[in-house]
Amino acid sequence: MDVLHTVLDVKRRLRPVQMQGLRVGFVPTMGALHDGHLSLVSEARKHSEVVVVSIFVNPTQFGPNEDLARYPRDLPGDLEKLGGSGADMVFAPEVSEIYPAGEQTVVEVTGVSRGLCGAVRPGHFRGVTTVVSKLFHIVRPDVAVFGQKDFQQLAVIRRMAKDLHLDVEIRGAPIVREPDGLAMSSRNRFLSPEDRARALALSTGLRAAHQRFTSGALAAPELLAAAAAPIAAVGLTPEYLELRSAEELTPVERVEANAVMLVAARLGNTRLIDNQLFELGRGAA
Ligand code: PAF
Repeated sequence: MDVLHTVLDVKRRLRPVQMQGLRVGFVPTMGALHDGHLSLVSEARKHSEVVVVSIFVNPTQFGPNEDLARYPRDLPGDLEKLGGSGADMVFAPEVSEIYPAGEQTVVEVTGVSRGLCGAVRPGHFRGVTTVVSKLFHIVRPDVAVFGQKDFQQLAVIRRMAKDLHLDVEIRGAPIVREPDGLAMSSRNRFLSPEDRARALALSTGLRAAHQRFTSGALAAPELLAAAAAPIAAVGLTPEYLELRSAEELTPVERVEANAVMLVAARLGNTRLIDNQLFELGRGAA
């Protein structure tokens, strides 16, 4: 597995591969890798011949009072986890490599970036789309894989790829959960034992709502109430708990097409997100 740190080295290594017609798969990450990330690498491997993983804690997607400084960084540990995962190349640049002094360009998706995390974290998705479009230009992947845990991020990136006519197929990979149901996240390590136990209410709530859905409930208030009860029971007030359409993330009052319930909550200084798809034909009739 090659580990490269500069844009030039990545281009020098990849362009000949691309000239040969080999498909390049790409998994952008911020490191602190867990099994969820490794599942993205496996998914990329299925759809490409060469798999590139980027490890870059992107400063522009963190707000001034967010956890950029304490975001976990462990390149040697990440490389060890990636060994044998199916990744062929790791791109781990410095901040100055991606954001050279004097640079002035941002990429921003409007509609689908608003609300949910976009409302709680102003500027976050502008940082994500700016860095992902830079990485796409450097790597020029045929396929890029993102986790469905960051459901809104996936919708925003799909929109960006479509609107900018990018020649990249965006694939979402299912959420990977701990055995008890907590969605895997690089931030779970910050939870105190008490908050780790309370955090479980997020996935428990989403599962309860999904059970109602599979028993035939379609109205948003009933589904949201089912999710809210276990969350309230552990004394958590979500930043948001909403039912949205699965494609454009518009608010829905009733599940009439595929929908997604999304939740975010703060436990101490740690912010967690989770979501659950409600797919017609796979649940309620
Ligand atoms: O999901 C993440 O880890 C990040 O938002 C991403 C897509 C790597 C961009 O920095």
